[in-house]
Amino acid sequence: MKILFLDQSGRVGGAELCLLDVAACCRDRSLVALFEDGTFRQLLEDSHIPVQVLSQTPISVRKESSWLAGVKSVRQLLPLSARVVRLSRQYDAIYANTQKALVVGAIASFLSRRPLIYHLHDILSLEHFSLTNQRLAVTLANRAALVIANSEASKAAFLEAGGQREKVYVVYNGFQLSQYQENRDRAKSLRFTLGLEGKFVIGHFSRLSPWKGQHVLLDALSRCSADVTAIFVGDALFGEQAYVQQLHEQVERLELGDRVQFLGFRSDVIPLMQMCDIVTHTSTAAEPFGRVIVEAMLCGTPVIAAKAGGALELVEPERTGWLVEPGDPQMLADAIAGCQQNHTQANAIAQYAQSEARRRFDLETINQQSTALLKSKVFSSSYE
Ligand code: UDP
Ligand code: GLC
Repeated sequence: MKILFLDQSGRVGGAELCLLDVAACCRDRSLVALFEDGTFRQLLEDSHIPVQVLSQTPISVRKESSWLAGVKSVRQLLPLSARVVRLSRQYDAIYANTQKALVVGAIASFLSRRPLIYHLHDILSLEHFSLTNQRLAVTLANRAALVIANSEASKAAFLEAGGQREKVYVVYNGFQLSQYQENRDRAKSLRFTLGLEGKFVIGHFSRLSPWKGQHVLLDALSRCSADVTAIFVGDALFGEQAYVQQLHEQVERLELGDRVQFLGFRSDVIPLMQMCDIVTHTSTAAEPFGRVIVEAMLCGTPVIAAKAGGALELVEPERTGWLVEPGDPQMLADAIAGCQQNHTQANAIAQYAQSEARRRFDLETINQQSTALLKSKVFSSSYE
C-alpha cells in the first residue's frame, strides 16, 4: 500500500515522532507531505523517509481559534488542498496526522477518491479545542475510513464529541526498544557535564507550554529539600514566549536559580532520562497519550505523572509509577520526597515499569497492529 502522510508541523512534537516511526515502515512506497518547513523535515530526511514541504507559510489558525479565523485560513488551505489532490493520485490512501492535515486530507480524499485515515493524537475536548474546531474535526473524521486514536482517553473524547464508534480503534505509540540500552558511563558523563554530581535530579521533558505545567514542578521544587534539582528539556515550539518569561520569573521569585536548568530542545532525551533520579510529567490538562511517560519507564527511571487522560492507561499507581492530581504542587513534592527517601522501592517500581513498558509498547508489535487495522478497514479489497 502506498500512503501519502500529511502533517501540518515543521517542528518535532510527539505526534511527529510517532509519525516518523509509522512512516519508516513503508518508506519505500510512501511520502510525508508537510505544511511547513523545519527540523521535522530534516529528521525525516535523516531517516531516509521521502518528504516534501508543500507550503512556505504556516497556516495561522490554531486549536483554540474561532470560526472566523478558520474562514480566513481558507485562502491558505485551498491551494494546499489542490497540491495534495494532485499528489494523492499517486497513492492508495491519505493519512492525516494532525488536525489541519485532517481538513486538507478530507478535501483531497473527497476530490481524489482516495480513502482517508486520521491518526487522532488529541483529546477533542473544550479544554484543548474551541467548539468550532472540535466540531470540524469530528465531522471530518467521521468521513474517514479509519480513525486511529492514540489512547482510550482520546477515543472516549472523540465519541463524546460525536465521533462514530465503528470508525475508531486505539493504537498506542510504539518505541524502538533497542534504543533503550542502559549506558551508565554515558549517564555519568552527562551528569558531570551538567554539574549535577551528587544531586537528586528531577527531569521534565516537554515543550514549554502552560498546559504542560512546568510551573507546577517549579512550585513543587520550592517545597523539596535543597539537594533536589530539576532539568527542563524542551523548547517553546509554538511561540509560548510569555510562558517562558513567566517560568524564568518564577525561578527568580522562588530563588531556585542554582537548582534549575533549562536545556532547550535536545535530541539525546534517552541518556538524559537515564541520568535522572526521577522523571515528572505535570500536564494540567488531560494528556492524550504522553510519550515521555513511556520513555521514562523504558529508561528504567521512576516516573510521577499527572492523573488524567492517557497517563491513567500508562501508569499503574504504586506498581509502575505514581499518579498525582494535575496542578497540585504539594502532592507532587510529597511524591518526589517519597521517591527520594525510599530509593530502593522507587527503583524496584521503575524496574517493573520498564519490563511492563517493553511488553506493551514494542514498536514492532504496535506496527503489526496498525498494519492489520489498515489491511482490514482500509485496504480490504486492494491490499497486497
Ligand atoms: N522531546 C524531544 N526533545 C526535547 C523534548 C521532548 O525529543 O527536548 C520528545 C520527547 O522525548 C517525546 C516528545 O518529544 O517523545 C513529546 O511527546 P509527548 O507525547 O510527551 O508530548 P507532546 O509534546 O507531543 O504533547
Ligand atoms: C500528541 C499528544 C501527546 C501524545 C502524542 C503522540 O502530541 O499531545 O500526548 O503522546 O501526540 O501520540
